[in-house]
Amino acid sequence: MNKQTEILQAKIAAAKKGGGEPRIASQHKKGKLTARERIQILLDDNTFEEIGMLVSHRCTDFGMEKEQYLGDGVVTGYGKIHGRLVYVFSQDFTVFGGSLSETHAEKICKIMDMAMQNGAPVIGLNDSGGARIQEGVVSLGGYADIFYRNTKASGVIPQLSAIMGPCAGGAVYSPAITDFIMMVEHTSYMFVTGPNVVKTVTHEDVSSEELGGAHTHASKSGVTHFACANEVECINNIKKLLSYIPQNCEEKAPKYAYTLQNELRPKIEKLIPLNANQPYDMKEVIAELCDEESFLEVHKDYAENIVVGFARIAGRSIGIVANQPASMAGVLDINSSKKGARFTRFCDAFNIPLLVLVDVPGFLPGTDQEWNGIITNGAKLLYALCEATVPKITLITRKAYGGAYDVMNSKHIGADLNYAFPNAEIAVMGAKGAVELIFKNVIDASENPAAALEEKVTEYTDKFANPYSAASRGFIDEVIQPQVAREKLIKGFTMLENKVAQMPKRKHGNIPL
Ligand code: HXC
Repeated sequence: MNKQTEILQAKIAAAKKGGGEPRIASQHKKGKLTARERIQILLDDNTFEEIGMLVSHRCTDFGMEKEQYLGDGVVTGYGKIHGRLVYVFSQDFTVFGGSLSETHAEKICKIMDMAMQNGAPVIGLNDSGGARIQEGVVSLGGYADIFYRNTKASGVIPQLSAIMGPCAGGAVYSPAITDFIMMVEHTSYMFVTGPNVVKTVTHEDVSSEELGGAHTHASKSGVTHFACANEVECINNIKKLLSYIPQNCEEKAPKYAYTLQNELRPKIEKLIPLNANQPYDMKEVIAELCDEESFLEVHKDYAENIVVGFARIAGRSIGIVANQPASMAGVLDINSSKKGARFTRFCDAFNIPLLVLVDVPGFLPGTDQEWNGIITNGAKLLYALCEATVPKITLITRKAYGGAYDVMNSKHIGADLNYAFPNAEIAVMGAKGAVELIFKNVIDASENPAAALEEKVTEYTDKFANPYSAASRGFIDEVIQPQVAREKLIKGFTMLENKVAQMPKRKHGNIPL
């Protein structure tokens, strides 16, 4: 081996050691993998090409010039997942706690720029103590450079963030701008200010886990879309998620091979109780409608009264937004509206057709909802579905009442195909409430108010609590038996495959944020 080769190999070996064996051992002891181990699991074998392995920091304060680690706390490059190009950065906690220096930020920005130019997703594996304290404002600038790129890339290429360690302070805002966040239970946390600051400012005693652990963000705040049991599960989730989405906004999602077979699903009818007040699990209906085992639920533990996620229908990727009668009767409230809107916008940005399943009693009443802005937040879902130009199919499985009927991808707001089951009730409001309002005088004047009420409820139910009034006006394209629903969706999405629809030219809309 000649001297030059020796020098190069020594440098490569040093870079691969990160912060050194003791720190790697400490990382493993915490149940965490190293930055390089994570990349190895993430990418197809032998596809990783590293960029910037020999980059080092430029800080000379606090004796930092003597502490140099090649790569400077982040491994960056490109490779393949299931044969498709991706760009990746993986923060190395063994080097200054994965903290972000000027050069660390430059490395991330470099691969983000390449990802944008070449139209492929960026995956960030975050494990960092935040801004490199020794570098001060230079580090803050580095963060802002990343935020700016995150925002420019939004809606152009998919951006996925895995949180695999600390993520605190302003550092949380890069993942927050990306499309999906997944966190690892017990070893990752995200917060703007940690437990100590919280204690000082609000006198609350709270642990890191409780304040910003995976479970908290998956169920309470909705900040994370997925909570994964461990790092390997988290990395596998990234790969699975990517299988539903295209490389960039100009492309379509990959289509999987599928041979048509008997597509009748008689079980669906049995899943939906005839009594409109009885709950059922919409996820069971989804499982029947979609290709076997293809449903990947997003935001599973947050705002459970709406279900969102990716699935496949005859091999085609779709996004599903569905009311969930098993949780709060499927009512729309602030959180479910935000959840549905965000998911809808992702699907629309990346050409993923939408299936909207409707069983909704309306919007949730109450001071809590009104004072916290159900008007603005409910409008988010309405706006998102109105502006979505991807193929959109609606299936009303049971109730579609009031404003929620309009919001849930009605014909009026641009749905391409609207189906309803024969037991569907499409009306301004439930029969009893409606009758009590419009026939109050008649009922009060009656000798037997209870009988009068019942008579009017029956009259109203017969007239309006069915799909036929809507179907007679073309608001519903077809009333279908539940067993043929999957067949209809396969045909519908195939027919809509080349849909072209455009919104008026403008800089951007003004969604009620
Ligand atoms: C430089 C850092 C660092 C940082 C950790 N290290 N954070 N070096 N800048 N921000 C170094 C430590 O000195 C240590 O070095 C090694 O990383 C591991 O850290 P430990 O503290 O030993 O690890 P652990 O006990 O696991 O604790 C992890 C931690 C803690 C909770 C993340 O390190 C911590 O609180 N760090 C500071 C967090 C912080 O305040 N960051 C700035 C936030 S403000 P050695 O040599 O011993 O291995 C911010 C603003 C961003 O980020 C704004 C964007 C707009």
